[in-house]
Amino acid sequence: MSFASPQQRQAFIAGIPKAELHLHIEGSLEPEMMFALAQRNAVDIPFASADEVRKAYAFSNLQDFLDIYYQGMNVLRTEQDFYDLTMAYFKRIHADNAIHAEIFFDPQGHTGRGIAFSTAIDGILRAMDDAGSQLGITSQLIMCFLRHLSEEEAFATLEDAMPYLDRIAGVGLDSSELGHPPSKFSKVFAKAKTLGLKTVAHAGEEGPPEYIWEALDLLKIDRMDHGNRSLEDDGLIERLRDNQMALTVCPLSNLSLCVIDRLEDHPLKKMLDLGLCATMNSDDPSYFGGYLNDNYEATATALNLDKDHIVKLAKNSFRGSFLGEDAIEQSLQRIDDYVSEFDRKIG
Ligand code: HPA
Ligand code: ZN
Repeated sequence: MSFASPQQRQAFIAGIPKAELHLHIEGSLEPEMMFALAQRNAVDIPFASADEVRKAYAFSNLQDFLDIYYQGMNVLRTEQDFYDLTMAYFKRIHADNAIHAEIFFDPQGHTGRGIAFSTAIDGILRAMDDAGSQLGITSQLIMCFLRHLSEEEAFATLEDAMPYLDRIAGVGLDSSELGHPPSKFSKVFAKAKTLGLKTVAHAGEEGPPEYIWEALDLLKIDRMDHGNRSLEDDGLIERLRDNQMALTVCPLSNLSLCVIDRLEDHPLKKMLDLGLCATMNSDDPSYFGGYLNDNYEATATALNLDKDHIVKLAKNSFRGSFLGEDAIEQSLQRIDDYVSEFDRKIG
């Protein structure tokens, strides 16, 4: 069904209960917080104002962005910094009616510059606990390995995580994709699986369909991050559809990193129409110009998404989550209740 007006669609998007499954917590560092933390920790940053920082956020590819992203996280020094960063994200998505989030962090982005693994994760976990008790948002944590580093370094990071295994839902793979195929990490992913961790990987954001096959067959992932380039391979489409493998799609990120030229060219609607389990996500919202609802809104406008598409995306965000079956069922019911109430109100 289509909406009577853009305002009605906006209201529907704003209120629908949803989950976010692809969010790098370090990518939610807003320029204002970057400045506040730089001052609090006496860290030099090469910008004079938050506006100047925003102006620097013009990227022509993934690596362009990553260079600035790793530089930005340099202001994160203490457990409290990680807490403040994470809590600010939860408060922001609470306003978007997100009720669940599965967030990434990049421990090697911190240990590599002398910040202890425990400093980062303790702050993030404390904010996750408070988001649960204060905002009613449930969350899980996924630890990513940086794929431009070696598999040996990923193993060392997995070792750092051992005391926290009961608080980590899974491992992921991010950073520079081209030249760093999933096969480089097959042993450490196998080890993570034996520890009972879920596995996800960025694949097919810039990398070719072969990387997506490797993520499926060698890393045996439970969920795929991005996956845009799956559409180049009919065999992949079939495999992803048959398994109902969730794809964590990030339209504003794809636009910012020039994976697509215009949002109107984004493959999300096609993915849904092909029966793939695509979900909507923000990736690095402070760098890519929008949080979860901004992604829904901009994409719905560009692709003329109707109500069924929005409902599908919101439902897929729970179906593709690592929540238990009961929690998924309850969330799907919440969406059905929301839709009934919305329809009743507009009569
Ligand atoms: N792609 C790969 N690595 C990343 C990203 C991304 O969009 N954001 C943070 N690390
Ligand atoms: Zn990402």
